Amino acid sequence: MTTHDPDSLSHAEQAALGSGADFWSTKQVGTIPSLTLTDGPHGVRRQVGADDHLGIAASEPATCFPPAVGLGQSWDAELVGKVGQALGAESRALDVDILLGPGVNIKRDPRCGRNFEYYSEDPHLTGVLATSWVSGLQGTGVGASLKHFAANNTEHDRMRSSSEVAPRPLREIYLRAFQRVVQQAQPWTVMCSYNRLNGTYTSQNHWLLTQVLRDEWGFDGVVVSDWGAVQDRVAAVAAGLDLEMPSTGGTTDTQVVEAAEAGTLDSAVLTRRRSDGRARREGGGGPGDADPAFDPETHHALAREVAAHCVVLLKNDVVDTAPVLPLTAGRSLAVIGNFGQTPRYQGGGSSHVNPTRVDVPLDEIRALADGAEVTSAAGFTTDGTGTDAALRDEAIRAAGAADTAVVFLGLAAHQESEGFDRDHIELPAEQIELLEAVVRVQPRTVVVLSHGGVLCLAPVVACAPAILDGALLGQAGGGALADVLYGRVNPSARLTETVPVRIHDTPAYLDFPGEHSHVQYGEGLFVGYRWYDARDIPVTFPFGHGLSYTSFSYDGLELRSAADGITASVTVTNTGERAGREVAQFYVAKPGSSVARPPQELKGHAVVTLAPGDSERVTVLLDRQDLAYWDIRADRWVVEGGTYEVRAAASSRDIRATGTVEVTGDDLVLPLTLDSPSARR
Ligand code: BGC
Repeated sequence: MTTHDPDSLSHAEQAALGSGADFWSTKQVGTIPSLTLTDGPHGVRRQVGADDHLGIAASEPATCFPPAVGLGQSWDAELVGKVGQALGAESRALDVDILLGPGVNIKRDPRCGRNFEYYSEDPHLTGVLATSWVSGLQGTGVGASLKHFAANNTEHDRMRSSSEVAPRPLREIYLRAFQRVVQQAQPWTVMCSYNRLNGTYTSQNHWLLTQVLRDEWGFDGVVVSDWGAVQDRVAAVAAGLDLEMPSTGGTTDTQVVEAAEAGTLDSAVLTRRRSDGRARREGGGGPGDADPAFDPETHHALAREVAAHCVVLLKNDVVDTAPVLPLTAGRSLAVIGNFGQTPRYQGGGSSHVNPTRVDVPLDEIRALADGAEVTSAAGFTTDGTGTDAALRDEAIRAAGAADTAVVFLGLAAHQESEGFDRDHIELPAEQIELLEAVVRVQPRTVVVLSHGGVLCLAPVVACAPAILDGALLGQAGGGALADVLYGRVNPSARLTETVPVRIHDTPAYLDFPGEHSHVQYGEGLFVGYRWYDARDIPVTFPFGHGLSYTSFSYDGLELRSAADGITASVTVTNTGERAGREVAQFYVAKPGSSVARPPQELKGHAVVTLAPGDSERVTVLLDRQDLAYWDIRADRWVVEGGTYEVRAAASSRDIRATGTVEVTGDDLVLPLTLDSPSARR
């Protein structure tokens, strides 16, 4: 007997394969080996003693790379792929077969406590970056777990809440990134979420797990439950769930066997699921052949390089005769704010990594200050006790005495985390008061922000001449920030989320976090910039925004229509005096569409590195599949024929060149019914 032949296993063995042996591993059945799964996504959280999925018990040291909120800001698929590879190497060294990431849920509302684990408000960008992460990881023989499938966009009531999403936003916004990653990177596993989708738990949702994921998208890996997400294992198995985690001590295995034997569960379902899963695992390199070790120093250096590419220069005004940034080494500096000494670099909950080491921004700044005096002052506490006058006065004195002040502001770990949502997006009032007082004595003030969720930055922008947004940068963020402050690295990252002027302007403001365990996705397709653009709402910083210490021009936009989409080419030139990296963005609009559409949508981007004065012709394919909308009458993707507008842009609100191109539409023949209009389009 070969235990890999599904038909040769008993119902009991088949059921046993479909549930955890303990918290982090699957059962060995015959010669089919046990697998170890571990969080993810921005580092390996390998627990060897007590286990939990809340990020509480200890784990082995591992490199803490920038969480997705930071990593996404690089907009750099190649860099994200390198992180995936490094995570694969660490997983192997720590004997982990499947790393539980990436998280590709869309940031629907800035208050969602888990936004730091997700990439963006945009499904295209999310899908492109996560595809690269999965390919990088799986290239090392370690499996990914694409999560949380699907429409898990709030932490509040997450174990019960039903996300009520209409078909078009579901397909075009919430499932789109999952679809791209499944089809382009073939993740070994997909993790279903805790919530219900349109009334049915995702773990029991046959439409989601079987019809869409397997039958439409061709997924042939394992569907694993989020930890504790299974309400009814038999219903879940029938719907398409393969692996329930963590262990239930065999209770649900017995239920599955009884249902299969009573004929209430089709045993063919059991066989098919397991055979799909095992084939994928082995195809990816096979479990159990761990590498001896990874080099923490090499990975720390990579984490620093990556983190520096994740820092967004939001603002950089001229004070006296020159922009405040980059800093000039050799001039005195006051480093102010608690986070300069105790960095905030990752989020709380299941993804919490035990870092191999942590760079402290103050130390890293001192190391690059070229002997200049660098003073420091905490300025405020982060325990919620409000303004401490002595700390504030000390900080103001230090700021006034130095040539420049660098003020680290942000949210403390207890203010945002997996497990709860925020109810506002403000920085603590004492931090704003401190900043205003510092700027009064020190016009050359730089703000550095650390946070997992979007912040209301209007009061910061109103007074600070320069702002760097570090979001969460991982364990090497301190060094990366020093590199950017001193211009060793020219900032090139871009916002992956709009910064709204106020929470009241946000798309889901009135529908978040829902009530009575239901969340109406009332804004439909109009999430993130799609909303602000459609409603013409002013924002503090638009999606895709990010400055540089140099400048770039865009010329000669050319568009060509081809069978596989639109080819867009534009020449990007570095018009400044420093080498720099530009993220050229391509937004597509369909004027006069027969369906409701956002005014523009990101459909491609390219990253170019240019020496001063150099140009590069950038060409991207705006894939035909990405031009389609989900037609609810035909229940499929449809490319509408006609004129499309393509905008080459430095941000969603900094359009540098626009052109139009004709696209041939898909044939769309709708079934004729008594309600059909006499002329259909
Ligand atoms: C989280 C998952 C995580 C799992 C295992 C759950 O609470 O939602 O993202 O992978 O725990 O720790």
